[in-house]
Amino acid sequence: EVKLRESLYIVSEFAKKYFVEQLNETEEGKNIGLSYFKERGFTKETILKFELGYSPAQRNAFTEYAEKKGYSKALLEASGLSVFNEQGNGIDRFRERVMFPIHSFSGRVLGFGGRILRSDAKAAKYLNSPETEIYHKSKILYGIFQSKQAILKQNECLLVEGYTDVISLHQSGIENVVSSSGTALTPDQIRLIKRLTPNVTILYDGDSAGIKASFRGIDLILEQELNVKVLLFPEGNDPDSFAQKHSSEEIQNYIAENATDFIQFKAKILLEDAKNDPVKKADLIRDIIQSISLVPNMIQRELYIQETSKLMDVREEVLFKELAQILQRKG
Ligand code: CTP
Ligand code: MN
Ligand code: MN
Ligand code: MN
Ligand code: MN
Repeated sequence: EVKLRESLYIVSEFAKKYFVEQLNETEEGKNIGLSYFKERGFTKETILKFELGYSPAQRNAFTEYAEKKGYSKALLEASGLSVFNEQGNGIDRFRERVMFPIHSFSGRVLGFGGRILRSDAKAAKYLNSPETEIYHKSKILYGIFQSKQAILKQNECLLVEGYTDVISLHQSGIENVVSSSGTALTPDQIRLIKRLTPNVTILYDGDSAGIKASFRGIDLILEQELNVKVLLFPEGNDPDSFAQKHSSEEIQNYIAENATDFIQFKAKILLEDAKNDPVKKADLIRDIIQSISLVPNMIQRELYIQETSKLMDVREEVLFKELAQILQRKG
């Protein structure tokens, strides 16, 4: 087991180098991959920093090269990089995609995300490594290796949806950022952040999926006694598209001015719907109290209740009663 894991680290590092070389040193890689990244506004420096790469179109280019270099079919299969048929002929998992290596906390390559170049409705936009002995999607955060220093230094972690959001923010000088890579945030991922800072700001995409994911993320983060703020980008934007349109100063200001604590965020989103309808407003208040009930620390809960009382114009004692009922139901 330990041996397999070690071998997987080695073949993943080997693959990363292969994809980087394909991107920067082959005609196909330069014409297709590098020009794609350039079009997206990624600089040479950024491409190197995140060790971005390119997987060629030829169906077995990587597998053939890796086998020639002595990597076994069993290991290539276990890494998720190759798939073999009964005759022992292998094909590459990643073909004609730009490649994003996914690093562990300490910088080892665990797996990859690969993006298609054309907006082809048939193929998934991103293809990721399958679960392997070293790559567990729910336990890692994209960008943690490149961002951990800045997260510590600023005592705050920005949480975004995608690979390119992490990369573009870094390029804009905002380096305390990680991505849950499209999956719903998990407790293990939050624990990873908790090693560095108690302060999380969610910066999800400004669409309904982003709002929904924010709500879920808020509750999970509160349960682990972290402080959570939320910021939504203007409709149709994500941190990457926003960063490509604005200067780094503008982005920093936008984040500083628009991040709100989770109560204000919930209130703002849900109040638009509730307006002056007392039944809906009561539902909204219950929803906020529900989130507050997840906070393990009693003093913090009290402070959140005070805030909700002011914001919603409801007496604190009513809110405490509601909170007590929820806590009682939970036992
Ligand atoms: N994702 C995925 N598989 C997909 C779509 C998305 O794994 N078919 C993950 C990727 O990690 C992606 C993240 O979810 O980065 C967010 O998805 P989305 O917002 O759709 O993509 P972007 O990151 O904005 O990618 P791009 O800007 O390249 O379109
Ligand atoms: Mn395992
Ligand atoms: Mn999205
Ligand atoms: Mn996005
Ligand atoms: Mn995007």
